Amino acid sequence: MTIQWFPGHMTRARRQIQDKLKLIDLAIELLDARIPLSSRNPMIDEILNNKPRLVLLNKSDLADPEATKQWIAYFANRGLEAVPIDAVQGNPTRDIIARSKVALAHKIEAQLRKGMNPRAMRALIVGIPNVGKSTLINKMAGRKIAATGDRPGVTKGQQWIKVGTEMELLDTPGILWPKFEDQTVGMRLAATGAIKEEILHLEDVAFFAMKYLIEYYPNAIRERFGVSELPEDTTDNEAVVEVMNEIGRKRGALVSGGRVDLEKASLVILRELRAGKLGRITMELPEEASVEV
Ligand code: G4P
Repeated sequence: MTIQWFPGHMTRARRQIQDKLKLIDLAIELLDARIPLSSRNPMIDEILNNKPRLVLLNKSDLADPEATKQWIAYFANRGLEAVPIDAVQGNPTRDIIARSKVALAHKIEAQLRKGMNPRAMRALIVGIPNVGKSTLINKMAGRKIAATGDRPGVTKGQQWIKVGTEMELLDTPGILWPKFEDQTVGMRLAATGAIKEEILHLEDVAFFAMKYLIEYYPNAIRERFGVSELPEDTTDNEAVVEVMNEIGRKRGALVSGGRVDLEKASLVILRELRAGKLGRITMELPEEASVEV
């Protein structure tokens, strides 16, 4: 799905979510476990306005488990429960229901005290494009829900999807925009594949990813691409490009005359990184997070 965001879109998307908030008990905020802050909407706290919330770190199958632990602690320190999930292979529904009950414990207790039977919890999934909202909705619904209206500004009648007897989910997610004014955020989104359109230059994104990988996951590069010599100093741009060239040579990404086709090499690097072929990699750690919540 391609979305070109304009201020008008943002206002409309925000208004739509705020309309939906009136209907729900709980917001389920979906983030990408590999880039939890970069995949987060910069205005999320303001938009959700104290609505009880559960944070899900999706695509955790692709993220570094150690880093995911750090992120869970990071969110816990800020009063948010974050749960790692895999919306494709995993079966997160029971866990989501259990954690949602905890998030809504006050409300449920109050209903019980009044002698009421707690009704099904009503929830809305929110997140930026490609974070896995539709995949999760389908997984929780146990069937494929038509992806109509999955675009900012497109409305349709609200439908509730029953998730067992204890939860009801709005069938269309709330679509948020990332913090794209920040260049590094854009690079992280592109490196993980959240931005599919080539707004950013392929070679720049691959260079950004390579620099990060050399610093944080050197063994992944050695093992996947058979590159033995890695630069100590990742501020040495030429040395980083040389690693990309070597990968290009090893993978036959060449132009006539035997020179490396850096664009092809970049594509190889990014495709394999995004597919998890380099192992489980997190592209953003709490310690170097540039965006604060
Ligand atoms: P959206 O509604 O938020 O826009 O996202 P959507 O569900 O369409 O998911 C975007 C892509 O991410 C899909 O891949 C989907 O399979 C993948 N995805 C979602 N959740 C997970 C997860 O937990 N783990 C992994 N590994 N992948 C997940 P796609 O349609 O094939 O697109 P792509 O692979 O070309 O990006």
